[in-house]
Amino acid sequence: MPLPLNDREIVVGVTGSIAAYKVADWVRSLRRDGARVTVIMTAAGARFVSPLTFAALSGSRVHTGMFDATAPETIPHIDLARRCALLLVAPATATTIARLAHGLADDLLATVALATEAPVMVCPAMNSKMFLHPATTANLATLRGHGYRVVEPASGNMACGEEGPGRLAEWETVRHAILATFAAQDLAGRAVLVTAGPTREPLDPVRFLSNRSTGKMGYAVAAAASQRGARVTLVSGPTDLAAPPGVEMIRITTALEMHQAVLDRASEMDVVVKAAAVSDFRPAEQASHKLKKATTTATIALAANPDILLTLGERRGNRPCPLLVGFAAESREHLNEGRRKLRAKNLDLMVVNDITASDCGFAVDTNRVTLLDRNDAVEELPLLTKDETAHRIWNRIVKLLKD
Ligand code: C5P
Repeated sequence: MPLPLNDREIVVGVTGSIAAYKVADWVRSLRRDGARVTVIMTAAGARFVSPLTFAALSGSRVHTGMFDATAPETIPHIDLARRCALLLVAPATATTIARLAHGLADDLLATVALATEAPVMVCPAMNSKMFLHPATTANLATLRGHGYRVVEPASGNMACGEEGPGRLAEWETVRHAILATFAAQDLAGRAVLVTAGPTREPLDPVRFLSNRSTGKMGYAVAAAASQRGARVTLVSGPTDLAAPPGVEMIRITTALEMHQAVLDRASEMDVVVKAAAVSDFRPAEQASHKLKKATTTATIALAANPDILLTLGERRGNRPCPLLVGFAAESREHLNEGRRKLRAKNLDLMVVNDITASDCGFAVDTNRVTLLDRNDAVEELPLLTKDETAHRIWNRIVKLLKD
């Protein structure tokens, strides 16, 4: 199964901040995403975490100096600069930031940064007073001017006991920025709305009707669009998932709330992808107090929820915008059902999956979907991660947008 960073070589420059221990875990995550990782440590970095730790986690030797007596035939800074697809400086201390900003070449990391043509990403981590000092602000501005990507530090409690900006950014934010660096920016300037997750239809203050959707597919669709440069709004039902970085989150609970949230925004969108598992019905009445066993009947009267996609399809009529993408999770006749819904709801693309297979559909990290378009073209995708499936869906949407 293709991984997002398959065979990319990422050179990680670890400098002298206590946050170096967090980056040890980042190295593992990069490798799980398919990357080859080589670590350079500054002298101060190597005092916080042993190079042995990074060697074990990266699976290759750690470079700590400019002059490598064990491999005299290679010139380490040129070799690393040529090999790397991305130079990730994390954690980046004030002194390394200053060194990079001024183009010094007095240690291996700074020299590789000067010699490489690969993108450079810098993740500052330092005491907030150091971070807010005008010298650091000016140095970071210089780096941005050189085209370096600076991943802003988070605010909060720091190891030195102070509060404020300077805490190393969360891995999810940095990973998203790395994937965006490698993604085609083919959705730049586009506004997209994605819906995800289940809806909950309350019966009384403690009970509701819902379904098994976890939101994973929709969140992957939103994250992939953001990596490709889109401005993304994610309208999500209740899920356990963290908001994808860079995405505007609108949290709703019921189908009626989702209906309102989507219709309020749809006219400003280039694309609407409805990956949510919207409840078709809601209890006709919502009790304001918890229903009692003694007084409750065994049947629940239901009222139909509005079909959001159908409404969008009707409103749009013959106009091309917004492009409408639906999902159909079916347990039988899935292609025929997908085709029927594509026509009935006036969609441009239908993503169909057979939810009876154990490796696709609800609550798993993989999916196997078929894409159907208005011209009856059928594209069967293989079993892929939901992240990869999301990118394949966007590949198709990008083609439809061009047409
Ligand atoms: O008709 P069915 O519910 O199977 O169609 C699924 C597609 O329609 C999904 O894209 C889903 O998000 C959307 N849908 C909707 N509003 C509903 C029900 C489904 O937008 N009330």
